[in-house]
Amino acid sequence: MVMSNELTKKLGIRYPIIQGPFGGGLSSIELLSTVSNLGGLGSYGAHHLPAAAISQLIADIRDRTSEPFAINLWVSNRDYFIDGVSRSDFDDYRARFKPLYEAAGAESPDYTEAFSHDFDEQVAAAIDARVPVLSFVFGVPGPHIIKACQDKGIITIGTATTVDEAVLLEARGIDIVVATGFEAGGHRVSFLKEPEDCLTGNFALVPQVADSLKIPVVAAGGIVDARGVHAAMALGAQGVQVGTAFLATNQSGTSAMHRDTLFSDRAKHTVLSRAFTGRLARFIENETINFVEKTEGLPLRFPLQNYFTEPIKAAAARYNNSDFASLYAGQGAPLLTHREAEKMFNSLIVDFV
Ligand SMILES: Cc1cc2nc3c(=O)[nH]c(=O)nc-3n(C[C@H](O)[C@H](O)[C@H](O)COP(=O)(O)O)c2cc1C
Repeated sequence: MVMSNELTKKLGIRYPIIQGPFGGGLSSIELLSTVSNLGGLGSYGAHHLPAAAISQLIADIRDRTSEPFAINLWVSNRDYFIDGVSRSDFDDYRARFKPLYEAAGAESPDYTEAFSHDFDEQVAAAIDARVPVLSFVFGVPGPHIIKACQDKGIITIGTATTVDEAVLLEARGIDIVVATGFEAGGHRVSFLKEPEDCLTGNFALVPQVADSLKIPVVAAGGIVDARGVHAAMALGAQGVQVGTAFLATNQSGTSAMHRDTLFSDRAKHTVLSRAFTGRLARFIENETINFVEKTEGLPLRFPLQNYFTEPIKAAAARYNNSDFASLYAGQGAPLLTHREAEKMFNSLIVDFV
């Protein structure tokens, strides 16, 4: 099995393994640096952070590794331009969640007008810090961003859920495309069509994307062991991006409750739902999802829905109650065996060493 290829050369890594970024606070410097120091590419999902925090984050990461790593941002970080939400609309939205707040023991959120951070400022912070790799989901970054990355020697990764998205990313000058199949944990990061129309599995998606592009393709979704790595390479990928299996390790930023649930029988059944953020993502089913799915007027669009479910997630963490927590999981979760990131990483590269 090939260990060195165009992908590993572009990224400056030893093994064609990317630890997938987790947004919303579930990434950790410990996990990123463990993977980068072992010869893969560690990533950090930073879409929820303001620009100043991203600059600090990159400095903190550099204290823990001198190897390449990736920062990940969301190109589109709101479903429509929210120029503030009126108080009456806010009160109306909050009322729709009331039974869920009561059931979860959550506080009602306070009125706000600020829902997401400025994408251009986030990108500028990462570029100014000369992050080694900048990865994107939910769209194609503008030409000025791609040019600035090229000028500074920053490698760019784009993410596609369809062949059309992959072709567009390559045409706009992105260096590497992650093809993410239906199996994957986290959001369906589609940007040309609604995500519900972009549900191709990796066995069909990866070879079609590989046949359509000249740049390296990375497969993401359902890969949790060396068999998955072999399969992805046989289908034309030059590497893999692994999410759920790293999220389940003690080094990730998620809760012990979430990790334990990933190793439980409940992980045998995952669903795609907009219940937590307003955008479609894969989870282990629970009360929050069932409530939102059956409630008239919900879910709201992103990031409003995310704002109104924050108190529910906080209560779930406080009471250690997985009935209400956001239990992101990919379809490969029932195959998980490792709780330590180093062992997890080594199990992926077992045939490369
Ligand atoms: C909790 C969670 C959060 C994620 N957040 C992001 C994100 O912010 N940006 C991104 O590019 N991918 C994100 N992903 C996708 C992963 O990086 C990776 O591509 C995906 O998990 C691979 O599929 P797998 O879970 O089946 O291994 C997330 C995945 C999970 C499970």
